[in-house]
Amino acid sequence: MGDKIGTLYGVGVGPGDPDLITLKALRILERVPRIFAARSTQNSYSLALNIVQRHLNGAEIIPLAFPMTKDAQILRDSWETNARQVLEVLLAGEDAAFITLGDPLTYSTYGYLLKTLKALHPQVKVVTIPGITSYNAAAAVLNTPLAEGEESCYLVSGAMGGAKLKEVAQTAENIVMLKTYRHFDDICQTLEDLDLMDRATCVRLCGLEGEMVEKDLSALKGQKMPYLSMIIIKKNGKA
Ligand SMILES: C[S@@+](CC[C@H](N)C(=O)[O-])C[C@H]1O[C@@H](n2cnc3c(N)ncnc32)[C@H](O)[C@@H]1O
Repeated sequence: MGDKIGTLYGVGVGPGDPDLITLKALRILERVPRIFAARSTQNSYSLALNIVQRHLNGAEIIPLAFPMTKDAQILRDSWETNARQVLEVLLAGEDAAFITLGDPLTYSTYGYLLKTLKALHPQVKVVTIPGITSYNAAAAVLNTPLAEGEESCYLVSGAMGGAKLKEVAQTAENIVMLKTYRHFDDICQTLEDLDLMDRATCVRLCGLEGEMVEKDLSALKGQKMPYLSMIIIKKNGKA
């Protein structure tokens, strides 16, 4: 093992449209010899990899399995296994990238990988390349500002249903809810309870084949929503 330690680049590849990737991200992906891509342990499909596929220059792709579980021990074990795999490459003196959908520091497995890697080896050099987030892309599709003047815009997770929405709807003028797919009906029910149904817009598969904007959320109730679904709520007027 040599003295040189490689650099890890955490690269945001944007929300789906392969043209919505930064020049900086592209240049790094073109030159690193290895690219780590997260995949769920249940399927081998990496959305981030699919986005960058046509930009790659022969780098070796190394899938990292991240289990879809809430079991804290299983999660910690998988972060550690994955971080050790990344560290092995860096300690061999090679640079590597970890690609992530949208922005790497917004609801991404990259955040966990980063913390674990730094705990294992504090000297390791990490450079994060921001990416265009899914909700920036959705706001652009809707031609609608996410926040104006003195307004606030809250970013919340729908992974546990409508509860977070209820919490923040008291104060936020605008709310972006990601991870809405599993509890979509519950979130719609909360919107109805809060009398916000007519202020909400759903954007699915933004920038990808099958992209859909739905302003009447009641039309989606009972439907199986794709993983890439979000809801934008504007209390002062619909998107
Ligand atoms: C784990 S989060 C990743 C967020 C990502 N890091 C970002 O910067 O937008 C996954 C959630 O992001 C949202 N998402 C990501 N890409 C999307 C897209 N192209 N269209 C709609 N929603 C998307 C969905 O709500 C999905 O459940």
